[in-house]
Amino acid sequence: MEGIEHLVRPRTVAVVGASRESTKIGHVILKNIIENGFPRERVFPINPNVDEVLGLKCYPSLNDVPSKIDLAVIAVPANVVPRVIEDCVRKGVKVAAIISSGFREVGNVEAEMKILEIAKRGGVRILGPNIVGLIDTVVSLNASFLPYLPDKGEIVMISQSGALAAALLTWTKLKSIGLLDIINLGNRADVDESDLMDFFSKDPHAKAIVLYLEGVENGKKFMEVAKRVSKERPIVVLKAGKGARAAEAVKSHTGSLAGSDVAYDAVFKQCGIVRASDIRTLFDYALSLAMLPDPKGENVVILTNGGGAGVMCADACEELKLRLMEIPEDLASALRKWMPSFGSVFNPIDLTGMATEKEYYGSISVLLNDERVHALITLFSHPATLNPMNVAEAIASCVSEVGKNKPVVAAFIGGKECDDAMKFLIKNGIPTFDTPERAVAALATKYRYIYYKNRPAGKHLEIKREKDSAYEIIVRALKEGRNLTQSESCEVASFYGIPTPKKFVAKNLEEALRLADDLGYPLVLEVESPDIVHKTDVGAIKLNIRDRRELEDAYDGILKSVKEKAPNAKIEGVVVRPFVKEGTQVAVGMHRDEAFGPLVMFGSGGVLVELYRDVSFRVAPLTDVDIEEMMRETKVYRVLEGFRGAPKDANSVKNVLAAVSQLALDFDIISDVDINPLFVYESGCMAFDVKMLLKGVKRHSN
Ligand code: ACO
Repeated sequence: MEGIEHLVRPRTVAVVGASRESTKIGHVILKNIIENGFPRERVFPINPNVDEVLGLKCYPSLNDVPSKIDLAVIAVPANVVPRVIEDCVRKGVKVAAIISSGFREVGNVEAEMKILEIAKRGGVRILGPNIVGLIDTVVSLNASFLPYLPDKGEIVMISQSGALAAALLTWTKLKSIGLLDIINLGNRADVDESDLMDFFSKDPHAKAIVLYLEGVENGKKFMEVAKRVSKERPIVVLKAGKGARAAEAVKSHTGSLAGSDVAYDAVFKQCGIVRASDIRTLFDYALSLAMLPDPKGENVVILTNGGGAGVMCADACEELKLRLMEIPEDLASALRKWMPSFGSVFNPIDLTGMATEKEYYGSISVLLNDERVHALITLFSHPATLNPMNVAEAIASCVSEVGKNKPVVAAFIGGKECDDAMKFLIKNGIPTFDTPERAVAALATKYRYIYYKNRPAGKHLEIKREKDSAYEIIVRALKEGRNLTQSESCEVASFYGIPTPKKFVAKNLEEALRLADDLGYPLVLEVESPDIVHKTDVGAIKLNIRDRRELEDAYDGILKSVKEKAPNAKIEGVVVRPFVKEGTQVAVGMHRDEAFGPLVMFGSGGVLVELYRDVSFRVAPLTDVDIEEMMRETKVYRVLEGFRGAPKDANSVKNVLAAVSQLALDFDIISDVDINPLFVYESGCMAFDVKMLLKGVKRHSN
């Protein structure tokens, strides 16, 4: 975080490349700095070819400036930037915001590394390169080529994209959404979103942080910082690139479900970050998180002047699991004073189309004064007879006069006049939208954030394990340049306390028959091969073999089918194992994500796992809270809880998830784990099929 205060709230600013030509970026930035309220006497233009720009004395280089410099904004061509950064080092500049393009974004990685190296050596932080700049409303700094400052607010916007930062400045202005800062990250050679989140988590002016990201480069740092920051300030993120990332999904069982976007989803949940799906929801959520006080309970009341809007709102509440309060009789009779006899005190409370600003004020006052009411959604459908602004003013003054520090959101449904009323309410600290659904989603986000903020950190489940024994098996496979066989995968799993069935490898039919006699029927026969992942697909497994004759048939059938359908697969024998009784089928897996590390999966199991996609993910190390949350996200968890049957041993599955998490942390070399199905019984569970893949070892596909 070092140096960030000099970037965001500098005392002195130099503009390197302060051109005399009014259309050039360096000139525009200098103009923006001095014309938006930053003190002129603390601004220093740098240009060796001119003595004065925009009425300010111009210096040939940074070293000629007779003052310390906190922030140097650099707008010279890329090939000149290294020299300027050297000047920054010599001058003791704290941060350089490099506007210039022509670095990593065009493949010029070396040039970017060079400026970073010079800067690091001299202790200079770098924002960018390839940015539109930054804006801070606290010190009225517009160090960018964006046209003006935003309306002053409490939302910090950090954007990887410069174009989007520019667009959102005008967009938020149009909607009267106030911003505290706009910071464009660009190539993120040095300063990244984590550094900025860290800074703003302690900034008294900031109430919410909005991030637009295309990707995270330092996943570990991001998670560590975001987990901490989200307890202090809400973070809302819009993460682009879903489709493209998903296409890169790795093709193992769990990997094909994983891909990077699910990793982001998991990380955001684990870190308490609210994810928005588009620009509109990004700011809907930000408004609610920045403006609303924390609700003291779950009782939500809808107040409306139109039945239709009320019903839509109630539907949305149900969908997003907001609890609509049952209105007690004493509260109902207090509310009846503010509505005609045909009004309704059933929640949604319907003041009817007869309501004027007086009825809105009166009924809101009753509701805010009632301790049993914890949050309020106020709806207004525009009847031709009433001026929406009058109602907006009544709502705003009632909220500010009666107060009670309760969250109030509003929806004004109608045309231009409603739009004006909406802006007025936003300016007065009441998140207001044009549909009931948006208002509900904004309030629900507040509740979700409160849940994140208050949820316990969780603890790691202790896993008894025989790490050395697992290590031996893994090293042996690595030396032979192959993945673990199914038996080896089972052995490693059992060293981590995961229950697996007894199994033996037979090299020929006679051995298989002998083992079968020892084990007793019924049995399972399956091929032992590090190259076959989906055994059913290639006929490499036969279940429920009841006698010698069936075993002989199965043996021949399996080998024939594998030779036909997976001719390149290396066959190391045939596994004979008892036919274990089926339980509820779940799947547990792990895929090592490039950005965030081991991504652990839980979900419905069986051969249709990829079709159902009833899965959830979290990044290891997993706490008991992570495990509980990820299991609850799936439908199969309800089956474990006893849907249409006896409850199953969910705790035994939790141990398997903790074990897989630990295994992934112990052995970086394991790229994928796939346990499917994991049979879950009323007591205990059994990993029926276990596969593990090693990093860098090629797998023959079947
Ligand atoms: N120190 C200070 N000033 C210098 C130096 C130096 N060492 N060397 C040259 N200058 C002066 C020049 O004399 C010139 O001033 P003048 O016009 O008075 O003569 C000024 O610096 C600018 O130099 P130019 O060579 O004219 O460069 P130009 O302004 O054309 O371009 C720029 C520089 C804007 C940085 C360009 O290289 C660039 O990268 N443009 C893209 C920037 C961008 O779009 N970034 C955001 C990406 S995100 C998004 O687009 C949404």
